[in-house]
Amino acid sequence: MKHTLSFSRIVFSAAILGVGISNAVADDETIRELAKERGRFIGTILNSEWFNDAIEPEFEEIHKTQFNVVVAENEMKFDATEPSENEFNYTKGDKMVEYAQANGLRIRGHALAWHSQVAGWVSQKYGGNKTELLRVLKNHIDSVVGHWKGKVAEWDVVNEAVNDDYNADWRSTNSVWYEGIGPEFLDSAFVWAHAADPDAELCYNDYSLEWGLREGSKASFVVEQVKRWKENGIPITCVGTQTHIEIAHETTPQNVRALAKALAELDVTLNITELDIGFPQGNADKLTAADYEKQGHIYRQFMDVFLEEPNMGEFVIWGLTDAHSWLDGQQGKTQGLLYDKQYKPKPAYDSIMVSLKAHPASEVKSPYPASLFNTEAIKPVVKSNGISMQLAGRTLFVAAAAKIDLFDMQGRPVFTAHDVKGSVELQGISKGLYVVRVREGSKTLTQRITIK
Ligand code: XIL
Repeated sequence: MKHTLSFSRIVFSAAILGVGISNAVADDETIRELAKERGRFIGTILNSEWFNDAIEPEFEEIHKTQFNVVVAENEMKFDATEPSENEFNYTKGDKMVEYAQANGLRIRGHALAWHSQVAGWVSQKYGGNKTELLRVLKNHIDSVVGHWKGKVAEWDVVNEAVNDDYNADWRSTNSVWYEGIGPEFLDSAFVWAHAADPDAELCYNDYSLEWGLREGSKASFVVEQVKRWKENGIPITCVGTQTHIEIAHETTPQNVRALAKALAELDVTLNITELDIGFPQGNADKLTAADYEKQGHIYRQFMDVFLEEPNMGEFVIWGLTDAHSWLDGQQGKTQGLLYDKQYKPKPAYDSIMVSLKAHPASEVKSPYPASLFNTEAIKPVVKSNGISMQLAGRTLFVAAAAKIDLFDMQGRPVFTAHDVKGSVELQGISKGLYVVRVREGSKTLTQRITIK
């Protein structure tokens, strides 16, 4: 009899494991987990729709399970944080900080000194007045960086300060900071940001840095400035290449590699901060599977470069789903992100996973201390039969479940809870592998989980 009993247990556990194993394999394979193992940060923005509670629930579920760094699309910019002089509004930024802290995400702050999205009062009241503009910029940086001191890990201190000329130089028109203060606004901004949070990483961020290091190029100009800043003790630690590109821009990944190497000489990190690889909008109706494969191929090359260059730390995509992207409205481009409009991962997503797996953790160098990666993984939401569940630490979230049963790997029941709505704590259960069964009426979801 004993033999029969254990045999039936084996059959039972094999049956429930049959469902569980395939899901469990998929669970472990998030970009977030692979990035963490490699000591790197990979992420996307939170779109403004997220801040306004006007986004599909899938957005947040995917965001926090797949990524480990986050940026606000618009909510930490000057016009958002200081809409009226010396009246700061941190409500939306705080919402992101709370979300990031709850889910173990690193925060990039974007952006402090930029010619765009500056509140109108700055030029109306103080345009051309150097003394006043220095005071305004310092007060802004002191307050904003001070408010999120120790929470925002890295700031784009200056954004897009170089012009688009063939022989690059500072952007001298349509910039309230440059026109009123001159190029010293950049140096000052770094010094003030460092004083406000000495532990934050401080970046210079710009677009078109992926076009190579020819003499006179924007990238060469930036490298020269970084060199000067380092020689003069200006506390810059990183450069951000925005990298808003198109599918045809095939040379850009290797140009980014060359830029990373040039910055390595100066002991500065290079981050990809706003990547999107769009299609021209006119082609939107004609896109084929081959086009999406090609897009994936370019994403893969960027990820290869990112993992292979030891002084690269963050890989941030400017959006998560093609359903919400600045490309369509403002750039004449479309469908440049990892997930399609229905939140289905595109070949670009698979390419990033393939690249991560092709670069084992033992071969990827991290520019960060290991302690930055001690965060608990958030497992993806598992859905089946209209039931969903998610495990975060020892908390099991279920939307509405009549009954939860937990079994050990021999199929022995170790925990039962009835009428659970929302969440249940799996305290007092030893670490290890289990199978959880969630039942709502006649519907059942069975899943293998790891309790740490
Ligand atoms: C964009 C946002 O995505 C839009 O919602 C906003 O209307 C304009 O700004 N470079 C940057 C980002 O540094 O802040 C920009 O974000 C995209 C280009």
